[in-house]
Amino acid sequence: MASVHLDNVAKHFGTTEVIRQLDLRIDSGEFIVFVGASGSGKSTLLRMIAGLETVSSGRILIGDRDVTDCPPAERGISMVFQSYALYPHMDVRGNISFGLKLARSSHDTIATRVARAARMLQIEELLDRKPAQLSGGQRQRVAIARAIVREPSVFLFDEPLSNLDAALRAHTRVEIAELHRSLGATMIYVTHDQIEAMSLADRMVVLKDGRVEQIGRPEELYRRPATRYVGGFLGTPAMNFLVPRRIEGRVAVLESGDEIALPDCDTAQVKTIGVRPEDIQIGGGGIAVSIFHVEELGETRIAHVRLGNTHELAVRSRSIDTDATQTWIKLHFPADRLHLFDRDDRRVAGN
Ligand SMILES: Nc1ncnc2c1ncn2[C@@H]1O[C@H](COP(=O)(O)OP(=O)(O)O)[C@@H](O)[C@H]1O
Ligand SMILES: [Mg+2]
Repeated sequence: MASVHLDNVAKHFGTTEVIRQLDLRIDSGEFIVFVGASGSGKSTLLRMIAGLETVSSGRILIGDRDVTDCPPAERGISMVFQSYALYPHMDVRGNISFGLKLARSSHDTIATRVARAARMLQIEELLDRKPAQLSGGQRQRVAIARAIVREPSVFLFDEPLSNLDAALRAHTRVEIAELHRSLGATMIYVTHDQIEAMSLADRMVVLKDGRVEQIGRPEELYRRPATRYVGGFLGTPAMNFLVPRRIEGRVAVLESGDEIALPDCDTAQVKTIGVRPEDIQIGGGGIAVSIFHVEELGETRIAHVRLGNTHELAVRSRSIDTDATQTWIKLHFPADRLHLFDRDDRRVAGN
């Protein structure tokens, strides 16, 4: 297993900046997830690590070795693609062992490693089938097995679960986490799915337009998003945002005239208040809002409410009455649960 250092790497295609000055040290054995919307640069970054894309500036180190100018085959990496990229004319065994044969591994090594990977991924009965005879989930396992047998020092995954249905995705997610534990491997994983990212990552890197918004443990990013974008990106339903008309000391005054007490910090900087649907309290004294829709989610309910003429909010609570549409409720916004952002959409210091 190896550490990876992205030493101020940047990438542009012509005049388009796709990755801007990114510096990241990934520990040996760490599970890192690059997450961001489509087009944010995730695949480009992964392909730069793999050597499938050159860097415009900066260096890439795997372990102590500068691999910036190494071809992919000499980097000690294996990559799993969203498309699986299996050879259709080869059976599963042939697909899994292909890379080892190219590398002229011994017959015994190939047999041992293929058997072990097949057992790990529970595809032993499929070894003689062709890819066309496999389901999407089975093909994905074959692609992962093919990556494992090469015993790379770093695994790269590019949206490996995107083509699977929701139930299989959730299941395979757990298997990948187990695989990471049992191999102790360094894994770099790309996804646009924030739930997948949160569930798998030791640390996640949130990308937006080729720029790092925030790097940290999933819980850290969820609890203390450094930017409004990260706050809105993580969590379903998304964080609610309120833009007050003005700030008076420790109080934010909304367009409706309603007031929200702010936590102790440099409140003069506040432009936007973020609050998660599960952090809003219902009942007691508070701001009156009208419910226009209630979603039943089984374990909880989501009320969609209107606050004055300007804001629609989502409130998450089991106690919301499903027949409550068109009725009024009162909401309380606990000061210690508010996320305050400034005019540059950065978290206000001290909050
Ligand atoms: N070969 C290329 N030439 C020009 N632009 C590219 C090329 N590859 C990717 N891009 C652009 O780089 C940006 C990031 O793409 P990509 O890394 O695939 O994003 P993601 O994987 O996050 O969806 C996109 O705007 C995309 O259009
Ligand atoms: Mg991509």
